[in-house]
Amino acid sequence: MRTAYFLLFLAGIILSCSQKNHQKTNADQKIDSLIELMTLDEKIGQLIQENGGTGHDDKIKNGLVGSILNVPDTKTVNRLQHLAVDSSRLGIPILFARDVIHGFKTIFPIPLGMAATFNPELVKRSAEIASVEAASAGIRWTFSPMTDVCRDPRWGRIAEGFGEDPLVHACMGVAMVKGYQGSDLAKKGSIAACAKHFAAYGAAEGGRDYNTASVPENVLRDIYLPPFKACAEEGVASFMTAFNEINGIPASGNRFLLKQILQKEWNYDGVVVSDWESIPQMQTHGYTSNLKESAFEAFDAGLNMEMNSKAYAEHLPQLIEEGKIELKQLDEAVRRIVKLKYLLGLFDDPYTNPENYPALLSDEHKKIAGQLAVQSIVLLKNSNSILPLDNKTTKIAVVGPLADSPHDQMGTWVFDGNKYDVITPLMSLRECFGEKNVFYAPGMEISRTKTTVGFPDAIKAAKMADCILLFLGEESILSGESHCRADISLPGVQEELINEIAKVNKPVVAVIMAGRPLTFENIMDKLDAVLYAWHPGTMGGPAIADIITGRENPSGKLPVTFPRHVGQIPIYYNHKNTGKPASDETWERLDDIPAEASQLSIGNTSHYLDYGFEPWFPFGFGLSYTSFRYFEIGMGSKEIVLGDSVIISANLENSGKYPGTEVVQLYIRDIAGSRTRPVKELQAFERIHLMPGETRKVRFAIHTNQLGFYNQDMEYVTEPGDFKAWIGGNSNADLEVSFTIK
Ligand code: NOJ
Repeated sequence: MRTAYFLLFLAGIILSCSQKNHQKTNADQKIDSLIELMTLDEKIGQLIQENGGTGHDDKIKNGLVGSILNVPDTKTVNRLQHLAVDSSRLGIPILFARDVIHGFKTIFPIPLGMAATFNPELVKRSAEIASVEAASAGIRWTFSPMTDVCRDPRWGRIAEGFGEDPLVHACMGVAMVKGYQGSDLAKKGSIAACAKHFAAYGAAEGGRDYNTASVPENVLRDIYLPPFKACAEEGVASFMTAFNEINGIPASGNRFLLKQILQKEWNYDGVVVSDWESIPQMQTHGYTSNLKESAFEAFDAGLNMEMNSKAYAEHLPQLIEEGKIELKQLDEAVRRIVKLKYLLGLFDDPYTNPENYPALLSDEHKKIAGQLAVQSIVLLKNSNSILPLDNKTTKIAVVGPLADSPHDQMGTWVFDGNKYDVITPLMSLRECFGEKNVFYAPGMEISRTKTTVGFPDAIKAAKMADCILLFLGEESILSGESHCRADISLPGVQEELINEIAKVNKPVVAVIMAGRPLTFENIMDKLDAVLYAWHPGTMGGPAIADIITGRENPSGKLPVTFPRHVGQIPIYYNHKNTGKPASDETWERLDDIPAEASQLSIGNTSHYLDYGFEPWFPFGFGLSYTSFRYFEIGMGSKEIVLGDSVIISANLENSGKYPGTEVVQLYIRDIAGSRTRPVKELQAFERIHLMPGETRKVRFAIHTNQLGFYNQDMEYVTEPGDFKAWIGGNSNADLEVSFTIK
């Protein structure tokens, strides 16, 4: 009987494929017919996502499992899939899911590092590779991209997203969706993507994971939602709800987010999955009184599939029997899930055979990982052009806990990458400079080491070298889920190590590997050059060596503002002006205040007495071995009619000695609005490669619609009036032009 149902369904699919023009309608009809054949238990079964490869056999045979996460071995995937297809009544295949966040076996830089490339094409390529590698193991659904805008580097998961800017987030999120899903989900090597965590998860109070997010609706719509909307428009196959509550309502039961915005406003018809046990957690939040209520709130809000927990399995039958949930709501949720399986081609080809896929960690895959790592590295300082180093004549000391730490180099959220595949900086530098010219002494065992016992060896190595390379930062476990830090300075005795090494009186180059911005301004004067390498992945070593020796020129830019001190957080470039903005002249410095000074109101501005008002490094910042000169900003017309495009251009010259790539950035400010507007917002960016002496005119065209915001009535509007624009190499760009929208 089971086979008969399945054949009937397959016949329908084949028929629908042969009538391409009506494919969607026919697919929907076939899915509806399948749903008609399902029992209540089988329907609810499709909404259940189990974890791991064991203990589900009987449920699978009874058609009670829709998806399983975390089964990374092909043999188990195929065994469980056979159970579902051959032994369950309707033979509906299982959808296997996994967190493939920045690569599967070939590990790319952490997403925050990928964002620093400002190169969505290359980021898309990384997702294509991750996708094909994961699909070869039978994984057809990844919980990526994470499109949570974050303005707080204390939050451990800042590593997993693309930083603080909605536009960068949207571009990178869309690039990853394109890379994972390809043009056709059914094509070999494509997997379903998931935009997560919906929504405002990155706005956790105090940067403490899972914490409450209080976000006014206009900020939610202007800042936190656009990357999700962009992914929805790109056809992302799924959304994951967030752990946090937003303005008092947990995201997993949030009708405003799931019904109003996702379904009604964005017409989203893909799968919505919970986060791990986020449905029962609504009770812990204090939003529901028991599991049954949690099941109702989540399901009724529009959450289709439950990850790991049992609220749906245990309570949907009764909720339906009681009429609290209508059958047609259930059918709609089932339809979305079965349709995704259909679109993925799982009904035609449910099994996997790795031999039919390109090799894992192929040379091509590693090449792209290397390119991404190179482009992600941000040069923060290069006094006296100490970098690049000549590998023919320089003896180097390699010091620090992250010089040869393959596990940490991969970064957070790596389940399938193998540290034995990683090439570390030490390995690459030995190859590049020759074994005998590299003196290695880590000085510290790990980034948090509290003892200085390793220092004498490190100092000895430093004394033998012409230049000292210090590999510092954070281990991978210091960022990622629930790994937040209240103090984001260099952990352990790293600052002491820098101080001791500096006493050797040789040039010191620091390479920082970290999952977030770190604060170390206080010891910056001891460092001649600083490369910020994030956690660069499998090919981080060769990438760093190439940059150190000048085979590659740094081009990464910061996707997030670097504070001078943790107390400045939240600090981000697209802030509001306030009524009393600060400047260097108005900053009242702590040390200048006389004793018993009296409090005044006149002339005060918005700053900290001790740390001023500016960040350490602005958003978009990054140096190069060459220099770039911007000049002649210009506009086609300075009076633009609403509905037309704003055309702005500037000349960029490579005024230095090396070929180099600059990320040219366009910022715009709406001077006055019916709701106040940020001091500037990134509206476009482009990577431009120039030879020394070469000049290029860079031109941006921005539709006036892009310059809108949510007004007091929550309508998206571009308001006519005066605007300012800047083009430059970071968010402090000063080449300015004004224009008016009529
Ligand atoms: C919890 C995380 O928040 C989410 O991002 C991840 O996809 C799931 N666990 C599954 O591992």
